[in-house]
Amino acid sequence: MRVGFVGWRGMVGSVLMERMRAENDFDGNDIEPVFYTTSNVGGQGPNIGRDIDTLQDAYDIDSLKHLDVVLTCQGGDYTSAVYPKLREAGWQGYWIDAASSLRMADDAIIVLDPVNDQVIRDGLANGGKNFIGGNCTVSLMLMGLGGLFNAGLVEWVSAMTYQAASGAGARNMRELITQMGSIRDAVAPELADPASAILDIDRKVAEHMRNGLPVDEFGVPLAGSLLPYIDRQLDNFQSREEWKGQAETNKILGRDASPIPVDGLCVRVGAMRCHSQALTIKLKQDVPLSDIESLLAEASPWSKVVPNDRDQTLSDLTPTAVTGTLTVPVGRLRKMNMGPRYLSAFTVGDQLLWGAAEPLRRMLAILRQ
Ligand code: HSE
Repeated sequence: MRVGFVGWRGMVGSVLMERMRAENDFDGNDIEPVFYTTSNVGGQGPNIGRDIDTLQDAYDIDSLKHLDVVLTCQGGDYTSAVYPKLREAGWQGYWIDAASSLRMADDAIIVLDPVNDQVIRDGLANGGKNFIGGNCTVSLMLMGLGGLFNAGLVEWVSAMTYQAASGAGARNMRELITQMGSIRDAVAPELADPASAILDIDRKVAEHMRNGLPVDEFGVPLAGSLLPYIDRQLDNFQSREEWKGQAETNKILGRDASPIPVDGLCVRVGAMRCHSQALTIKLKQDVPLSDIESLLAEASPWSKVVPNDRDQTLSDLTPTAVTGTLTVPVGRLRKMNMGPRYLSAFTVGDQLLWGAAEPLRRMLAILRQ
């Protein structure tokens, strides 16, 4: 299988390469990796433990045409520029993509195999060729809550999100850290003096945050603050990120015909690469909490239930604890005051792993089976 990798050098692509190396995905004669570039044709590809050709031109349709699979983390503009031309040229291969451009098309399947393996396999059996990674927030919600969805227990979900800087891009992560450092630097002498007045520090910090921070990427200060709007504004007053919640959840689950309502507010916070979500779930029936915990814990090898205990929550259910890991813990599970069919939950997941690279890596593995 000739597999072309595009966008392997960017943030999501680099995480994908790391994961593929860690899982020995480049071993085996069944795969012939070809690395593409949009800027460095003839350059050196990544170290994957075997000999590879120099970099090919990612816009060269004649070259791409000879691939069985294109796996791209290059972004939506690349997909929009290249994908239609490649199909027009008669290419019949599999297109695996991290970007959202093709995601909601009728002939696209959103991949998250621990949750929708059957939808993926049905898609393949029906001749599906386009397998697209989901929105990170949606994928992470389903990695946390998949057990409840797949048991048919969810009437609706409200998700309030706490999304990390990584979802906005690598430069945004750098800007967040720079903002944090800049705030600290603005009051360094006062911090060093235990006798300084906290309200003076606070006044100086507030002034610096309003006028002194670099904001080229986010447009506004994020460090020490939060941004209750992610992505574009839609005519129905949802943000596009909020709109994706229901649209993608139901497409992933293969239930566009009878969608489960999903809605909420998406908020950017100063976390690095873990998205968190506070969920209110209306259950279709009153299920005992212990049954819910079992369903969630057993849903996949990456599921984990954190007992609703203060110390365990603060130790295991934070972006700092989860970052860089494939586990998607869910905790704060309890029945709410609204009644026995109302469940609260909190989940945290790495936005670059299950939120982006891992579903693509596993889709390629499915094609290799
Ligand atoms: N749109 C998401 C975010 C990341 O801004 O956090 C991509 O799924």
